[in-house]
Amino acid sequence: MGGTISSPHRCFSMRNPFARALLLTLAMFSVSWIFLRSDIDVRSALRKTAASAREVMSQRPLGFGITAETSAEKHGSHAQSSNASRVMICDYDIERLKKWKEQYHLQDTFEYTKRYVQVRRQNITRKSVTKLGQDFLAGEVKVVDVNQQYAAETCPEPLVVPVPQSPFPETVNASEFMFGVSTTYKRFVDPRTSPINEWSYWLTDGKGNSNGGKLVLMLLDASESELGDAYSKLTSRGIDVDVYRSDPSMIMAVRYLTLVPQMYNHPERVNKKWLVVCDDDTFFPSFHALADKFAEYDHERPMYIGTFSEDVNNIQRHGSQAFGGAGVFLSVPMAEIVAEKYDTCRTEDKIRESNSGWGPQGDILLRKCIYENSEVKLTLLNDLWQLDLLGDPSGFYESGIKPLSLHHYRGGIWHTAHPWHYTKVAHVCGEDCTLQRFQTADNFIISNGFSVAYYPWGIDFDLNQFEATFHAAPENKGWNLDYKMGPQRPSLHKTGRKISWDLKEATRNEDGTVSQVYVLKHYDWRWKNPDGTPMTERDGVIELVWMPDD
Ligand SMILES: *[C@@H]1O[C@H](CO)[C@@H](O)[C@H](O)[C@H]1NC(C)=O
Ligand SMILES: *[C@@H]1O[C@H](CO)[C@@H](O)[C@H](O)[C@H]1NC(C)=O
Ligand SMILES: *[C@@H]1O[C@H](CO)[C@@H](O)[C@H](O)[C@H]1NC(C)=O
Repeated sequence: MGGTISSPHRCFSMRNPFARALLLTLAMFSVSWIFLRSDIDVRSALRKTAASAREVMSQRPLGFGITAETSAEKHGSHAQSSNASRVMICDYDIERLKKWKEQYHLQDTFEYTKRYVQVRRQNITRKSVTKLGQDFLAGEVKVVDVNQQYAAETCPEPLVVPVPQSPFPETVNASEFMFGVSTTYKRFVDPRTSPINEWSYWLTDGKGNSNGGKLVLMLLDASESELGDAYSKLTSRGIDVDVYRSDPSMIMAVRYLTLVPQMYNHPERVNKKWLVVCDDDTFFPSFHALADKFAEYDHERPMYIGTFSEDVNNIQRHGSQAFGGAGVFLSVPMAEIVAEKYDTCRTEDKIRESNSGWGPQGDILLRKCIYENSEVKLTLLNDLWQLDLLGDPSGFYESGIKPLSLHHYRGGIWHTAHPWHYTKVAHVCGEDCTLQRFQTADNFIISNGFSVAYYPWGIDFDLNQFEATFHAAPENKGWNLDYKMGPQRPSLHKTGRKISWDLKEATRNEDGTVSQVYVLKHYDWRWKNPDGTPMTERDGVIELVWMPDD
């Protein structure tokens, strides 16, 4: 069995059979999903006949907007406003607008809102939602035509946002950790799957210096010069890495297990407390919090720390174990046991026993190696996320949580997300600020770094529950995810009650600010009224510029 698996990356062992299972069930599954959804739409529509809801709606109908020409006649200035720490410029930079139009396939005329956000770092704890007294929209929404020229504009007062005094990514000290990743050279260099930017976030100070974290990278299907290329690409970004060639005769589950002795036998292991096995799409958005959490554990004991899949089906299928994409943390004494028993943990029998029906699983091989050679059991750290979710991930990223890891964000059958861009704002307002929510008086919620969502009928649902925009698969029982996430509130897709601009890119500017570009497409399948008509006829861009508190 094992020898026939030629797929290069560990994830593929799940992905290919998974995709097949998905195809098999897709027909039945999508039919029931459609019924379920229309059901929700009807119920929400009925519920929403309340007079108050209508009132809110008529106050700010969608399809809002005036043309910029009229307002631009006001000829604003660039005067620094009292609440802003930086000069604010709201002129129409037509070259940039054109670039976005090309890049995000926008209409020639689209809505464009630019808003500065002034961060105020205060002695407060992180809140899941912070209510602001200010409106998000300052006046009418502008519609710009990229083929026109516009006069100068005045910026509205910035939004003023209180945040905790959480540490900045550049001050992370990751020197107690070593990370092991096994992937292919092809995935490493393909712009769609390359982890270099993401690694530069959690393995460097963001200025080209290592933060002390060590990376052990095992590359499959790489020539000598490609190994060198990978090494120089990573070290030029400040990442402290050693690159090794994977043994192509090993099946991927074994290549995964091999990361443990590879790290344990590394000369720098003597300075480490935690050896971490992860995937090439594992991301640590809040490293200070992660390191603080691990400071609570006893690294001198053998410890096996990780998290379950969110989908209870996967526990039933694969077993009670750490799911590797979320990161599996082994204390050095734990890794020592695995390294010693390595030869007996990777026999043909063990490989056969680690086949859950979806091919031999590296996670199972590691769990068996630990459970069959020690009394140690998994310690659950539920702030790590495997993210075995399908569909629109918004409900997760908009939940106000501060995840310690993220995974499965490179599309394919899983979701698409851009955590490297999401976390850029942490350089302005601290690590706690990523994915923190700010609710304005006019029913917008900024899920910082991920989206800006508008709720035209008001925010009359429980923001402490995940919105069920995503689902489990292939066997969606409706409650697969509840044991980890709690029951989720109904999705607002196609209800006319929510519309959102999703972050596509973020940039750290020379003046210390961070710009975020959030994009809305008028034909987005999610933003429809219950009768199926689109909530807006226009594409839209919201640009937020975060100003540091200094
Ligand atoms: C902005 O500054 C003005 C004048 O100093 C002040 O009255 C106002 O409260 C400030 N707004 C916010 C949101 O802090
Ligand atoms: C921060 O707030 C806490 C609790 O309100 C207080 O005990 C502490 O002294 C404050 N720290 C500073 C630096 O003001
Ligand atoms: C980082 O942590 C290590 C071990 O805890 C310590 O020896 C080192 O001095 C720290 N480095 C910095 C720059 O603080």
